[in-house]
Amino acid sequence: MRLSPHLATPVVLSFLLPFVSGVYGSATTRRATTCNGHAELCDRSFGNVTFVGAHDSYAVGTNSLFVNQDYDITQQLNDGVRMLQSQAHNKNGVIELCHTSCGLQDGGSLEDYLKKVKTWMDNNPNDVVSLLIVNSDNIAPSEYDTVFKSAGLDTLAYAPSSATLAASDWPTLGTLIDSGKRLVAFLSTTADFTSVPYLIDEFTNVWETAYDVTDTTFDCNVNRTNGDTSTQMYLINHFLDKLIAGVPAPDSSRANSTNAVSGEGSLGVQVQTCAAQYSRNPNFMLVDFYEYGNGSVFQVAADANGVTYSPTTPVATPGGSSSSSSSSSSGSVTSSPNGAMELRVVPAQFAASLAVVGGLAFGALSFF
Ligand SMILES: *[C@@H]1O[C@H](CO)[C@@H](O)[C@H](O)[C@H]1NC(C)=O
Ligand SMILES: *[C@@H]1O[C@H](CO)[C@@H](O)[C@H](O)[C@H]1NC(C)=O
Ligand SMILES: *[C@@H]1O[C@H](CO)[C@@H](O)[C@H](O)[C@H]1NC(C)=O
Ligand SMILES: *[C@@H]1O[C@H](CO)[C@@H](O)[C@H](O)[C@H]1NC(C)=O
Repeated sequence: MRLSPHLATPVVLSFLLPFVSGVYGSATTRRATTCNGHAELCDRSFGNVTFVGAHDSYAVGTNSLFVNQDYDITQQLNDGVRMLQSQAHNKNGVIELCHTSCGLQDGGSLEDYLKKVKTWMDNNPNDVVSLLIVNSDNIAPSEYDTVFKSAGLDTLAYAPSSATLAASDWPTLGTLIDSGKRLVAFLSTTADFTSVPYLIDEFTNVWETAYDVTDTTFDCNVNRTNGDTSTQMYLINHFLDKLIAGVPAPDSSRANSTNAVSGEGSLGVQVQTCAAQYSRNPNFMLVDFYEYGNGSVFQVAADANGVTYSPTTPVATPGGSSSSSSSSSSGSVTSSPNGAMELRVVPAQFAASLAVVGGLAFGALSFF
């Protein structure tokens, strides 16, 4: 039997439409074939991926009390860091990235920092990057919004559908990449979903383990949260401090073993401990001097994600001693014969730092 031409057209169209739109739909919802370096990660929820984060990512320099990284954020991102943690302060009306106080360590303006992030993300269109901004002076989200806009990052930032998402409710990396919203920005305080929805409240979405610890136990207990830890993502603070005159400072002398895949106090062991305790891996792992261990922190992340770690180029040289972006020019870096960085501060500088610290409310200091 033949359909009359008058009937055939709508019948054929209505038959074809779901098919056509289905094909078209899948073509638009999934373009990226590699996400954060791995095809396997494209279909994984952001809340089901383990990322390496740089603790105090802006704190590059020579004063050992307040320096946590040897390389700037561009090198960090090149090497595989995908969460950049920072500490923001109000310095005469400008949002500045400083450690504890801008008089002690000043890592430059948030705007300059965000511009570097923007440049890197433009050059790496298949990567999702997270920011974690510790809002030390409780600066309003509208002020951050202004800076994000001038850096051109507001349009790259993902705004969730609600102020709080369970780990399992996050979009996949592929969706974030394909939608062009592949910057995930967390703010530790003052986040306001109704006014700036892309500045995501940290502690209702992410819980954290203890920070500034000085022993190698690195337990996985919940230390800070403002939400439901059974469904939130979580972050482990895996950086070791040592006390210098009672003040916690990064222990770079043990960075190789702290960042290692296995062994006492290693990142690998803490991940295993946490996975056993919570039946899921941490989402974010903040480390100091990420390049110590020759990529071991990225190996730990790859193992957690079930992907193969196979860098095309080795990570930066430990201690910032290579020709790339290091800042060891002031002569205050001391290097032992085997290249290990010892207490990286000269006595006068150390005394000056302690004097300033002493002038602050000592007991209330947080070096996070
Ligand atoms: C968080 O960790 C710090 C450092 O270990 C500890 O002093 C504090 O009691 C912990 N707080 C909670 C609520 O677990
Ligand atoms: C992702 O899901 C797998 C399978 O359930 C789980 O083993 C892994 O721990 C999860 N990772 C994170 C970061 O949630
Ligand atoms: C560091 O890792 C790279 C692979 O990323 C490897 O080629 C190189 O031999 C390693 N170097 C050392 C000193 O282990
Ligand atoms: C860390 O390991 C590298 C080799 O991977 C070595 O050159 C360096 O001296 C070690 N640093 C310390 C502080 O142990």
